[in-house]
Amino acid sequence: MGGLCPDVNEEISPFHSLRYASKAFKGALIEYCRRKSKEFRTMIRILFVCLGNICRSPMAEFIMKDMVRKKGTADKFYIASAGTSDEEIWNGIGNPVYPPAREELTRHGITDVSGKRATQLTRSDYKKYDLIIGMEQRNVHNMLRILGGDPEGKVKRLLDYSKKPRDISDPWYTHRFESAYNDILEGCEALYDHLNP
Ligand code: 4NP
Repeated sequence: MGGLCPDVNEEISPFHSLRYASKAFKGALIEYCRRKSKEFRTMIRILFVCLGNICRSPMAEFIMKDMVRKKGTADKFYIASAGTSDEEIWNGIGNPVYPPAREELTRHGITDVSGKRATQLTRSDYKKYDLIIGMEQRNVHNMLRILGGDPEGKVKRLLDYSKKPRDISDPWYTHRFESAYNDILEGCEALYDHLNP
């Protein structure tokens, strides 16, 4: 009776910690997970990916979440982000969004990113998401290595959706967070238009 419950993002398997829960409670939980799982499968599931998952891909995650919320289509999307490296994960706990990236989002009215922690892309993400979108060609190269290929054509580069396909420079090195924000916004707007939800 295993299965992925998307909201809690963890395996609800053989009710280990529910030994003493009532039958009715377990039944309700199974029903809830079935419903969530069905909803999850019908959503457009997007995973944004960069190197560290503390600058560009979380910016893309929260810019896109803000955009779909403002357009009234948030219920059609499941949006998350990950990194190709484990540089920003210590003893299994990911670092929060890098403060200059968070401040750039705040300047644009996006404030609630405190719950985000860096995670690393895994091979199992391939079946979980419809689109797995890197910020630059080097990300795409590393994504294909981790995912073991792209037989269903899910792996993309964000600004390939725009009129001017290009990489998004890493502000961790350039310190140009405003420029990264503008590029990511351009990519997310082009992606949204492409999906036409
Ligand atoms: P990001 O930037 O890939 O846009 O999150 C980076 C953040 C951290 C590191 C590299 C890039 N790092 O090496 O720790």
